[in-house]
Amino acid sequence: MNESIIKLTEQWVQEQLSHDTTGHDWYHIKRVTTLAKHLSIDAEVNMNVIILACLMHDLADDKVVESEEAGLASITNWLEDHDVSPEDTKHILSIITTMSFKAGKGDPMRTLEGQIVQDADRLDALGAIGIARTFTYSGHKKQSMYDPTLRVRENMSIEEYRHGQSSAIQHFYEKLLKLPERMNTTQGRVLADQRAEYMRTFLEQFYSEWSFE
Ligand code: ADP
Ligand code: NI
Repeated sequence: MNESIIKLTEQWVQEQLSHDTTGHDWYHIKRVTTLAKHLSIDAEVNMNVIILACLMHDLADDKVVESEEAGLASITNWLEDHDVSPEDTKHILSIITTMSFKAGKGDPMRTLEGQIVQDADRLDALGAIGIARTFTYSGHKKQSMYDPTLRVRENMSIEEYRHGQSSAIQHFYEKLLKLPERMNTTQGRVLADQRAEYMRTFLEQFYSEWSFE
């Protein structure tokens, strides 16, 4: 594997995601790749696997492509056509399927490469960027920004939420604020804690403005 497969993959992904408005645009992919490189400093990892998995990680998401199967097939063809080894192809596909919520069903990442890519993707769901992406996605799904009649507590089960409506603020409790404790790497955990802390500050300010008298 060499530089050129990465450059070609960047172009290929950018073409596919250039019109995305669901929070999975090309700049999300770029940030995740940069975060993953940062988390890889001092780690003994296959960097090409990490970068290619980051670049293609949302191409099998049915929010972005027609179906997960179609997305995985096109990723597989792409890697084969560019002479990526069967071993690396298998590794990249396993990272992408484990990351996808539906396919992975919370399975742990088995390799350090996968753990780094997953941490990088989770970090981009936190902090100021995470807040912005959540409201963007909620608008896309036509959910409300905040519904004070929804029960909001951090330890609500996923089933309880599935039966109810959601809102952007609700998603903070459903998923985002739980991400720090699920981080795989120490460095990822440090960054996640900082970004979650910023979100809690945002929530405090949000509630104080909401109930301003
Ligand atoms: P990723 O691209 O990081 O894998 P997702 O596909 O799960 O993330 O979601 C994309 C963005 O939309 C994230 O910032 C996430 O927090 C946000 N999001 C996902 N589901 C919801 C939801 N039900 N309500 C609000 N925001 C959501
Ligand atoms: Ni992503």
